[in-house]
Amino acid sequence: MNEIQVKVPATPEGGYPIVIGTGILSGLLERIEREIPNKALFIVTDESLAKAGHLATLTGGREVPSYVIRPAGEESKHFGTLAAILEAMEAHRLGRDTVVIGLGGGTVGDIAGFAAAVFKRGVPVVHIPTTTVAQADSSIGGKTGVDSTQSKNAFGCFWHPAAVFIDTATLATLDERQYRAGLAESVKHAAIANPEYFAFLENHIDAILRRDTDVLGTVAGYNCLIKAAVVEEDPTEKNKRRILNYGHTVGHAVESASQYQLLHGECVAIGMMAAGMLERAMGLADDGRMERIEGLLKKLGLPTRIGGVGKDGVGIKKVDMVHPTSEQIPTCDMNIEHLLNLLTMDKKAVGKWPRFVLLERLGQVYCRDGQWAAEVRPEVVKEVVSDLLKK
Ligand code: GLY
Repeated sequence: MNEIQVKVPATPEGGYPIVIGTGILSGLLERIEREIPNKALFIVTDESLAKAGHLATLTGGREVPSYVIRPAGEESKHFGTLAAILEAMEAHRLGRDTVVIGLGGGTVGDIAGFAAAVFKRGVPVVHIPTTTVAQADSSIGGKTGVDSTQSKNAFGCFWHPAAVFIDTATLATLDERQYRAGLAESVKHAAIANPEYFAFLENHIDAILRRDTDVLGTVAGYNCLIKAAVVEEDPTEKNKRRILNYGHTVGHAVESASQYQLLHGECVAIGMMAAGMLERAMGLADDGRMERIEGLLKKLGLPTRIGGVGKDGVGIKKVDMVHPTSEQIPTCDMNIEHLLNLLTMDKKAVGKWPRFVLLERLGQVYCRDGQWAAEVRPEVVKEVVSDLLKK
């Protein structure tokens, strides 16, 4: 078992532990009760975790008040689900002496954290992430939220967890597409912060894809150290933390435009390619990183362009994202105008135009005048988005 302490000075506790292990789910409730004593427990999870048996492993037969999100996934990430969770907590007569436990992927963690932040003006949350996205990224750093009808993570707040417990064994039951998609966040961390980690990923693709728990433990360790260092420096994303949004600006627009038919990690993969194209267009030095990033993403089975997704076995099943038929995705609108419009809704937008996180070289984000997200002229962005739509 590996333990990393994240210091977030803004929190009264001054920080929180991230514990990484294999098979640690059983007995974890008792550990949480020891480490955060005198609290009632409330579990937020989703139906896929319940079906996979992870909820039963965590509770070990105990009756613990819980809310199971149905259906699992992004379509439930809205205010309606948040309200239902809060009402359920109140119906259980829970008070401020409650700790919310989020068992699941990014959707569960983001909603559980949001519920904890607003229930009776705030109670602690513990995250137990069970997907590659959540273990690498969303469980660490205190971002919570829900989607609006138009864009991803539109509403939310920072609410840092009291602890994070990563059990790499829970990844064994994750569906193959979800598993691969979440690996994009690991590629992101390596690309922005650590060339040695990038080489580790390149050299361990087979072990990662067969879900070797030793290798997954190393991957989790790298991810947590990289993310924790950035969060410690800038817990509420005033500037440096923006580097964690590498690939996310275009990625979130693609994700919203796909009506969440594409998974978050798949869109981040496409977004990292967009960043590489922007770097080229801006004349940033070429150290061959774009080819390496693209090569790694492809070997991990991730899409690297919008055009062609769904055609070559990666990305969405049975649906052609470029020319969706009305029966397939009634409201999907993957065209350049819609994507550019979604970019103006980006949370980092200044004057209704987003800033972009770009690489200076592998492991180093481009920073000018102390700013970690760069201005890029709209016509350059338009050209890149139009290139991404080509096959
Ligand atoms: N997912 C990016 C961040 O936590 O800042």
